[in-house]
Amino acid sequence: MSHQDKSPQTMSPAVILLDDDAEVLEALAETFELAGFTVRPCTGWPEARAHIAREMAGVVLTDVRMPGRDGFDALGDIHAVDPEIPVVLISGHADVPMAVRAMQQGAYDFVEKPADPAYLVELIRRASEHRALVLAHRQLREVVQTRAIDGRIIGTAPAIVRLREMTLALAQVDATVLIFGQTGTGKELVARSLHDFGTRARGPFVAINCGALPPTILESELFGHEAGAFTGAKERRIGKIEQAHLGTLFLDEIESMSMEAQMRLLRVLQERSLERLGGQREIKVDVRVVAATKVDLVAQAAKGLFREDLVYRLNVVPLTTPPLRERGTRDIELLFRHYFDEAAAKLGPRAAPCPALDALARHGWPGNVRELRNAAERAALGFPILPGAPEPVETAPGRSLAALVASHERREIEMALARGRQLQQVAADLGISRKTLYLKMREHGLSAAGDAELQNG
Ligand SMILES: Nc1ncnc2c1ncn2[C@@H]1O[C@H](COP(=O)(O)OP(=O)(O)OP(=O)(O)O)[C@@H](O)[C@H]1O
Ligand SMILES: [Mg+2]
Repeated sequence: MSHQDKSPQTMSPAVILLDDDAEVLEALAETFELAGFTVRPCTGWPEARAHIAREMAGVVLTDVRMPGRDGFDALGDIHAVDPEIPVVLISGHADVPMAVRAMQQGAYDFVEKPADPAYLVELIRRASEHRALVLAHRQLREVVQTRAIDGRIIGTAPAIVRLREMTLALAQVDATVLIFGQTGTGKELVARSLHDFGTRARGPFVAINCGALPPTILESELFGHEAGAFTGAKERRIGKIEQAHLGTLFLDEIESMSMEAQMRLLRVLQERSLERLGGQREIKVDVRVVAATKVDLVAQAAKGLFREDLVYRLNVVPLTTPPLRERGTRDIELLFRHYFDEAAAKLGPRAAPCPALDALARHGWPGNVRELRNAAERAALGFPILPGAPEPVETAPGRSLAALVASHERREIEMALARGRQLQQVAADLGISRKTLYLKMREHGLSAAGDAELQNG
């Protein structure tokens, strides 16, 4: 696409004229040329088709009755490319049913022949302005989204730049996506971005970790069940797939899914409907599926450990999140600074100064961005960046075990608090009760934003 095509506002508006009558076509062409339009006269749909493109900065004026594909066919074909291209139908055999049909099928307007040229020009000018606004709005949205995703999926390594571009592009379509990558490389982040930057953003994002649940429980979690489907199924349960209706279903660690569940999932993907366990009724579901895996599913399928047909269904568009050490020093430092600054901003004056970053690139980062993020958050609290490095203050030799343990405990609690969530959650993370957390915080002289909540609760 040329640069010019991308700035519709600065071009003279284009109109594609379609009429099988050469005389009529010529007269129309002259009218629009005089009015300052770029005119593309066509005597048949195949010729006109060549001008239609998604980012086309123009509108279409087409006759209805034509040999071969008629005006209504053209309307359908154009809207299959871009439903926001204005199409005006014009006919010498106009009647009310035809006009109604035109409007129902999404025509911009419907005009009877012969039409007053001045009226036609005004109408097409309005349609062109409408089209220019649609394109300008799309461009603006693209810019805004590009900026937003830059701040979310951070990095400058070519693999990450490409990942961001692919994610934005794929967010706009419903294709099933399989994300492959090691632990902590951002698979869930990409899945969320596919949802948040796409057309389903207002719908639900439902995530399920297939590796975290025993097979039978996973099945009823995914597909739901009717009351009495199995012992213990007292009430009907709506499964995650149904919950994700009109939104996105994220299947994490899909490699752990049982063969039985795989078969059921395949059916959902093929038929876009499901039956709850123990149910008879087909329930239509409209979900976009994103799956993530740490293993090579194609190789798993070759070994008979995963259904091959499901791999092909899921693998429509594969995305790979690269391991951190392959992304280079620049990305490692960039991500560290990002998460350090974020943690430091939360801590305020209690934050430690940013340490020297030269040791970062020497570490292998087996836990990838998650590990780096934790290291950055710990560094903001004054911990050494890398585990195993000598601790700066409290672990000085000669301190009693009790003092070391206490100081370590204080730091762990401080870090958990610094993540800025509710105290209930902090306590759960640390595996202690809220009351114990409160006592420990008092013992260590720690406070949190949620203090009031704790004391009231
Ligand atoms: N490119 C990135 N830019 C910014 N943050 C990132 C990036 N990649 C990952 N992260 C952050 O790293 C952490 C781990 O990411 P995420 O949970 O998406 O990884 P994952 O691949 O799903 O890991 P696992 O396989 O262990 O579930 C999250 O806090 C996420 O926000
Ligand atoms: Mg994950």
